[in-house]
This record gives sequence, structure tokens and C-alpha cells, in this order.
Amino acid sequence: MDTIIASRTQVPWRRAVISVDQFSKPDISDIFATADRLAVGRTTPLGGKTIANLFYEPSTRTSSSFYAAMTKLGGNVIPINEVNYSSVSKGETLEDTIRTLECYADAIVLRHYDDDATERAVRVSSVPIINAGNGAGEHPTQALLDLYTIQREHGCIDGLTVTMMGDLKYGRTVHSLSKLLRMYDVTLRFVAPDELRMPREYCRDGDSEHGDLDEVIADTDVLYVTRVQKERIPGAIDIDFNYAVTPEHMARARDDMALMHPMPRVGEIPASLDSDPRSAYFRQMRYGLYVRMSLLVAMLGGA
Ligand code: NCD
Repeated sequence: MDTIIASRTQVPWRRAVISVDQFSKPDISDIFATADRLAVGRTTPLGGKTIANLFYEPSTRTSSSFYAAMTKLGGNVIPINEVNYSSVSKGETLEDTIRTLECYADAIVLRHYDDDATERAVRVSSVPIINAGNGAGEHPTQALLDLYTIQREHGCIDGLTVTMMGDLKYGRTVHSLSKLLRMYDVTLRFVAPDELRMPREYCRDGDSEHGDLDEVIADTDVLYVTRVQKERIPGAIDIDFNYAVTPEHMARARDDMALMHPMPRVGEIPASLDSDPRSAYFRQMRYGLYVRMSLLVAMLGGA
């Protein structure tokens, strides 16, 4: 395990995106600057290149945004979104599947239910691996697009108070985003029931933990809401916690608060809030397209 953790920070992100730990602030600025450019102009620098989308867990946004990003850049995609229809169902190992796809693809976007899957893939792959979610571990490209969304919505990152609410224990997006936000001058607040609190490894002095959104809504610049990751919670868990953001919460929130969610939502934000200009979750998806385009250009060597 020690060697795995050591390798995570040593592998350059252009070679494999494993964790947000690999990105420096200048890297992030470069990725965002390219995303800004790609948002307004079209180029096809990845003509002739191919990525494989290898998803062992369900996905709508991550797989389709990588697909759209690659094709908008002139490249192609091998979509394996349902591994049950691939040789995985015959018992093929992750390692063999990766070594197969590297014969056809210039990079592999991997989502897997095991926390160690990305690092196992990186160990055998000769092409870049992009972590699109490893169990309850990380989701680094989501965190980059979340950070980009915060910058686009607020015009800055420093000085903001970010409240994360929901399943902070098993939700990988909040793990990666909290780590990225540590690079900036940001106040973090966590709202979760006892059973789903942010793991200690992601907490720092100065953070505050709350059981109720009412305690923090009025001072929040970014409210980042997540669903309960039922598929990752062992056994039956009875959670007595009201996750829904209500019109009453929004009435108490700042006029420029950004309401974000990595999606899918399952009741945490009612559709009636979609028309509130502070609801940023659909813009967040669009920004994700640009950030993933930017990452693909940087990793696959487009001009
Ligand atoms: C997230 C994930 O897969 O971790 N979805 C996504 O990529 N936008 C969040 C979730 O499934 O709740």
C-alpha cells in the first residue's frame, strides 16, 4: 500500500490522473485557461486519437461528457459503459481488460467500484489512465470541474465559504473537492448525519461540522449537495436526516450563493429550484465538458 500511495503523487497527471494530489495550482490555472478557450472556440487537435471509456459502475454525465469532449476535439471513443456485455462477464481481470484496451486506445477513462482499481490499472497500462471514480475514493476530474464551476460562478475561489452537505463519508466527489480546495483560502463546512460524516483524513483545523443546514446556510457562498451513496453503504442504514434544500433555505441564502450538485440528485434538490439563478448544477455539467476537453488536450498531446 505504501508504494501505491508514493506512486500516486509521483506519477505526472499527464501520464495518469489518479488523485487530485497530483495537481499544483499552476497546473489548475493552465487547465482552466484552456477550458476557457475551448468554451468559446472549436478546434480538433485530437483527430486520429481514441479513448476507451471503461465503466464498471453506472454513469451518465462522466461517460457522456468524456465522449462528447473527445468527439468535439476530433477524436474517437470506444464506449464500454456496460461491462456486463464485455469479457468482464466471462471473468476477465481488470488488468487483462486494460492491456486489451491499450492496444486500441490512446487513453483509458476508468470508473470502478474498487478503491484500488485506478492504481492497479496504472501499474499495467502503457497509455494514460484517467480516474473517473474509484469506489468511495476519489473523482479527480469531477473535482476539477467543480472547482472550475466555483471560479466561473463567483469569479474567484479565495475567500469563499463552501458548505458540503450529504453523504460525506462515501461520496468520492466531496473527498476530491475538499482536497483541491485546501490549496486555496477557503472555509469548509460539513453538514452530515453522524453515520455519514467526512472521514477524518479529509478534515482540517478550522473546518466546522453541523447536523443541520439551517446553522450555516446564511453564511455560505457555495452549497455543494450530494446524494446518499446507497450502493456503497454496507448493510441497511437508517439515516434520520433531512437532506432536501428547500425554498425556505434559499430565501435565507446569499443572493450570489452557488447551489451545486455532482448529480444524480435523488430528492436533495427539488426541481422547483431549477429556475433559481443560483442553481448552478446544470451549468456545472457544461463546465465539466470544457474541463474534460482541456484535460484530454493536455494528456493526449493536442496542439
Ligand atoms: C458522482 C459519482 O459518480 O461519484 N456522479 C458523477 O460523476 N457526476 C456522484 C454520485 O454518483 O452521487
